[in-house]
Amino acid sequence: MNLKSIGVFDSGIGGLTVYKCLKERMPNEKVVYLGDTARLPYGSKSAETIIKFSEENARFLLQKDVKIIVVACNSSSSYAVPTLQNSLDIPVIGVIDAGSEAAAKGSQKKIGVIGTTATISSGAYETTIREKRPGIEIISKACPLFVPLVEEGWIDHRVTRMVIEEYLMPLKEQGIDTLVLGCTHYPVLKDAIAGVIGNEITLVDSGITTADWVYVILKSLGWLTEPDMEKKETFIQDEFYVTDFPERFKNVGEIFLKRQIPAVNVADI
Ligand code: DGL
Repeated sequence: MNLKSIGVFDSGIGGLTVYKCLKERMPNEKVVYLGDTARLPYGSKSAETIIKFSEENARFLLQKDVKIIVVACNSSSSYAVPTLQNSLDIPVIGVIDAGSEAAAKGSQKKIGVIGTTATISSGAYETTIREKRPGIEIISKACPLFVPLVEEGWIDHRVTRMVIEEYLMPLKEQGIDTLVLGCTHYPVLKDAIAGVIGNEITLVDSGITTADWVYVILKSLGWLTEPDMEKKETFIQDEFYVTDFPERFKNVGEIFLKRQIPAVNVADI
């Protein structure tokens, strides 16, 4: 049995959507999650700052003896993954590559990509999708208001539906057939988004493919944790750290996960 954990970091709470996908795919793995709540949002920060914060987050997770690091934050994944991959001895995986693969497979004609201002300005999704599908038409759009709406818990709310309409109807009118949810918070709005733009547009959740990739990497390295037949509840063994305000993380995080979160600790990074 391999006792090392999967390290996950995000700017804050949103990465719990990726955490959820990882746990669904690999319920036997222990996860150490770090949310940098003291310094979020990352989505409105510069590349240099995002890289610096991401390196500090990774350093914290390394002290927790993790075997792989998952960069759940799309803004961090857009800028910091190559730096982390070059400097760390363990595998580092971001959500952009996996999400782009999911978006590019199939017969799509026009792909929409939405994310924070940082993610959209980086052009990371566009570049990666085009490596897989040269010439494909991509329309990108920053949707910064989605993050605070989700954190407010306004998931099924008329204001949220209006904002979705404002941001996404122009993409629908331009004929997208696929929409990449390029931000940790957006999968929480999946139903609300589909309710506004319709079910014909395929929504891509990068977290799902990222979890598949992590599984494949750990399996190929022989690092997957075997099931412990004695223990049925694996959720409680995970560790959660934040850089500020653990109570808020717990409250909002429970909306993301639709279940209880055990103790949340303050990380000194
Ligand atoms: N986690 C961020 C992302 O996926 C969204 C929140 C933030 O801006 O920090 O880009």
